[in-house]
Amino acid sequence: MKEILEGIHLNKIFRDGDSLVVAANDVSFTLHEGEFLGIVGESGCGKSTLLRLVSGLIKPDSGELTHDGEAYTGMSPAKTGRFLQMIFQDAYASFDPHMRMHRSILEAAPKNVSEEELVQLLDDLHLEAKLLEKRPGELSGGQCQRMSIARAILSGADILLCDEITSALDVVTEAQIVSLLQGIRQKREFSMMFVSHNIALVSQLCDRMIVMHDGQIVEAGTTKELLENPKQEYTKKLIASSRMQSL
Ligand SMILES: Nc1ncnc2c1ncn2[C@@H]1O[C@H](COP(=O)(O)OP(=O)(O)O)[C@@H](O)[C@H]1O
Ligand SMILES: [Mg+2]
Repeated sequence: MKEILEGIHLNKIFRDGDSLVVAANDVSFTLHEGEFLGIVGESGCGKSTLLRLVSGLIKPDSGELTHDGEAYTGMSPAKTGRFLQMIFQDAYASFDPHMRMHRSILEAAPKNVSEEELVQLLDDLHLEAKLLEKRPGELSGGQCQRMSIARAILSGADILLCDEITSALDVVTEAQIVSLLQGIRQKREFSMMFVSHNIALVSQLCDRMIVMHDGQIVEAGTTKELLENPKQEYTKKLIASSRMQSL
């Protein structure tokens, strides 16, 4: 499978008052074309930092990023937006509160996107076209998040970076979004980095997983490998605690 995105020895240190926080410690990863890659680990382990590095929202202190084999380290989010789009936990905050969905979504899309394409995509996401007339505050959390997925896909980028995109939603809505993402994957070609503290959720959706702890990747492998035969104590603990929560 073709490597579409690569992070090579990424490092990022934040200053927090007098102390330093190592948020990315020699992080290397590969995303293949069409792959869903999960990133799991407890709060504060560096998941969001990794996605922000990959998207260009923050710059690494050292290390390299490549897209399709070409280095893009230090590229601004305005430019990385051509090939990748970030989706955040707070969908409402990602839209202009005064703008109707129709305008918000089409402003982010190439000029040649047709109304039919938009409506077809909304249909794939189980959203009625009449919701395009609404402002974000008039949508439910799940509808608003599905609109932000629509906007990201319609932008033409073929890599989605999802940061806890279901964490503000109830479990039913969360499951619906995961199943819709699986569904649209059959119809459209895109790759995804999916961050969540919920390893059970990630394992339903992703082909491979990265486990992070204290800014480092402690283990990576296919979802099956990791769940059935975790090598690291930390991964075992994470799996055990998610099984406890689902009891
Ligand atoms: N802008 C920042 N300034 C200072 N510390 C930060 C900043 N962003 C993240 N951190 C710290 O870096 C570590 C990793 O954070 P983050 O990537 O947000 O973790 P996660 O998304 O896994 O919860 C945490 O200790 C966090 O407090
Ligand atoms: Mg985070």
